Amino acid sequence: MSRSKPSGQSGMAREANPRMAVLIMAAGKGTRLKSKHPKVLHEVGGKPLLRHVIDAATRVFPASDVYAIIGHEAERVRQAVAASGVNFIYQREQRGTGHAVTSARDAVQHYDHVLVLSGDAPLITPATLQRLSEYHLQQRAAMTILSAVLDEPRGYGRILYRRDGRSVAQIAEEKSLTDRQRRLKEVNAGFYGFRAKPLFEHIARLTTDNAHREYYLTDMAGVLARAGEKVVALSASNPHEILGCNTRWELAEVDAELRLEKARRLAEEGVTIYAPQTCVIDADVQVGPDTVIEPFVQILGQTRIGSDCRVRSYSVLTDSELADGVVVRHGCVLEQARVAAGAVLGPYSHLRPGSEIGEGAHVGNFVETKKARLGKASKANHLTYLGDAEIGERVNVGAGTITCNYDGSRKHTTVIEDGAFIGSDATLVAPVRVGRNAYVAAGSTVTEDVPEDALALARTRQVTKSQWAKRRRESNT
Ligand code: UD1
Ligand code: CA
Repeated sequence: MSRSKPSGQSGMAREANPRMAVLIMAAGKGTRLKSKHPKVLHEVGGKPLLRHVIDAATRVFPASDVYAIIGHEAERVRQAVAASGVNFIYQREQRGTGHAVTSARDAVQHYDHVLVLSGDAPLITPATLQRLSEYHLQQRAAMTILSAVLDEPRGYGRILYRRDGRSVAQIAEEKSLTDRQRRLKEVNAGFYGFRAKPLFEHIARLTTDNAHREYYLTDMAGVLARAGEKVVALSASNPHEILGCNTRWELAEVDAELRLEKARRLAEEGVTIYAPQTCVIDADVQVGPDTVIEPFVQILGQTRIGSDCRVRSYSVLTDSELADGVVVRHGCVLEQARVAAGAVLGPYSHLRPGSEIGEGAHVGNFVETKKARLGKASKANHLTYLGDAEIGERVNVGAGTITCNYDGSRKHTTVIEDGAFIGSDATLVAPVRVGRNAYVAAGSTVTEDVPEDALALARTRQVTKSQWAKRRRESNT
């Protein structure tokens, strides 16, 4: 079922152009997480559970054939994944997985087949979805269940076979297992292929006669088998992929898994990552070869890092862009910042949204920038706040310089032109402009523009009283 060529391959040849809908069940509340947020919006690997499943599905099937079933906090869930272009179905009351699929009937019953996926199993891969749909079509089964053999099958439904050992007789949920069945290790992964016709013909037979008083989709195995339909199981090649996230601890385990996987992929692309277990790198992050990432670094959101960079320990980079050869020393925090090639940041720099650091520029310790452009080869090395500032090339911003950008109601801009020199501890009261190659004397409070090549001195003159200290000492004895 590749997107470009939906038919004509392998087993599908028997059924001309079978149309397949993909349902993703995501309406549940997730009681076991003990959360006020919808379960499928909890994040692993930096993105919501549901987005992982949607991303896997839309790599195999066109988004126009994918339907997310939402219910609990539906609007929030819809907004969080709307960009994927999938369709949405509302399950008003959450009365079980069988009920979820029933509520999708009108939307999908005109398809030939329906693939049903669990929205809370984020490790599922496109390859496995493809395999499941192909096997389902090949087998010409009414229901094909993706299964997995787990060492610790607790909590999952178990696959029960008929005497032939191949056709499935039913799926038994954990709560209804006999002691013997409890030892079975082949579990229901929560992913299924159905032929639409028998599915919707028989789905009304589901009852709530079970421990949770819910309509279980899993009961369709028994219902269809008893109706003489073919029900089979396909074992996932990597049982790992099917792990659901039902508890906070499972979320943490799956998250760690995804982080390590991401780090491994980056490593394969030529990135050095020391102590990868200590780093948190989101799924969409890109990093160029020969970049070195030290322990305890977080790289989040849509951050893109070039080649030959070094990100030192304890830095957190969010939605930022670093060109090649950038050095981020210890403890920097970057948010929506852009840093040109060869720039050096930190230790302990805070680059807030709209910070643009030019080629080879230096931003040093305890420097905060916000909506500030620092031109090529300019330096702000110590203890400085640059907000709403346009700073040219080769500017030296002395230690302790502050742009006073806020007058209590509005923000104003400070402009510092190329080659200017701002002495230490200057306060630049915006709006103000310092011209090309001009100097501002240390300790100045600048309230008026400084013309090109001028020197501005804006501080009280020093008074020196000779022998003052000595006299004081002597008068005290
Ligand atoms: C389900 C299976 C179990 C299987 C396991 C695999 C049933 C009855 N049991 O159990 O056999 O081993 O998955 O992970 O299906 N949902 C809705 N609407 C509802 C109820 C649930 O959309 O009314 C959604 C949930 O949001 C979730 C998915 O369906 O994404 C699965 O539901 P969940 O309650 O997590 O089922 P499990 O107990 O994990
Ligand atoms: Ca589950």
